Amino acid sequence: MMNNTTILAIESSCDETAAAVVKNNNGIISIESNVIASQADIHAQYGGVIPEIAARNHSTNIIPVIKQALTEANVSHENINTLAVTQGPGLMAALHVGVETAKALAYAWEKPIIPINHMEGHIYSSLASEKKIDFPILALLVSGGHTQLVLMRKHGEYDIIGETMDDAVGEAFDKVAKMLNLPYPGGPSIETTAQSGNAEAIDFPRPMLDSTDFNFSFSGLKTAVLYYIKDNPSYNKNDVAASFQAAAIDVLIKKTKKAIKKHSPHIVIVGGGVAANSLLRKNLHNLAKEQKIELRVPREKTSADNAAMIGIAAMFKKPTKKSFIANPNLSLK
Ligand code: KG4
Ligand code: ZN
Repeated sequence: MMNNTTILAIESSCDETAAAVVKNNNGIISIESNVIASQADIHAQYGGVIPEIAARNHSTNIIPVIKQALTEANVSHENINTLAVTQGPGLMAALHVGVETAKALAYAWEKPIIPINHMEGHIYSSLASEKKIDFPILALLVSGGHTQLVLMRKHGEYDIIGETMDDAVGEAFDKVAKMLNLPYPGGPSIETTAQSGNAEAIDFPRPMLDSTDFNFSFSGLKTAVLYYIKDNPSYNKNDVAASFQAAAIDVLIKKTKKAIKKHSPHIVIVGGGVAANSLLRKNLHNLAKEQKIELRVPREKTSADNAAMIGIAAMFKKPTKKSFIANPNLSLK
């Protein structure tokens, strides 16, 4: 791990323009600032993220967001040792703004730069603390684009032991929310709507629960909700949301349990936007207790997309000497 380092990190993979200053003092990582300019309200009127609009807003926001991150951390660019930026995965046009801005600043300030995988950021968002990091670690990554179970035997080494065969779990939340005429982003709307519903009202399918691998599938569950709504025009929105949420979270928990039994990790972590879901958090907490392993969840403000997680991941890497560009399909390796 890099020591006594101050990193300026930039993230622009989807619809949040984010910059953060992260410090490492003798192994203790602190988040000095974590600025997020969300475009969620802009994209909500279209029911999803429009890449060109996202890129245009990133271009407008990125310099003010970086300035604010430096100001809030009470540092100037002379105090920055290294830049870090999300290289991918994400939307090409959106990623490009962050990557090229970071490269321009690195050039102008004569600082090194570290490209980071966005999913790696979600993993490390749970690992910034004074507590010892004991490998192996099992990471459940749940976002709008990914659903993965990743086994880490050491820093920077990722073994994807399971992933979705079709829709990501966050995507399923977003699509079901749309069917129920709930606002974008769908995850939080479903969670709120589910609060006054009966999770046992409808027995939605739990796809791939009996498969021997750790893969997921959410497209069948989404279609089951669609048919239920069509067949029952006077459906109860709260019950549908609660029953869908229960089915989706049930699959995540049971697959995670299976992976724990096979790989005996010391720590389980959860990352990505869906990690904000309180049913998922509660059930993961119970699972970790039952299996007697440590669970680490992202701190508040670092479960959804942010730049602090990119800076934390960068603390465990070395700057690159190679040139690089945004890569929308970058995978963990
Ligand atoms: O990690 P993230 O912010 O962006 C991506 O990298 O995709 O994840 C966004 C996803 C969206 O699909 C959103 O609906 C979902 O996370 N999400 C939730 C909740 N909050 C956000 N899903 C379920 N429950 C939530 N409370
Ligand atoms: Zn994300």
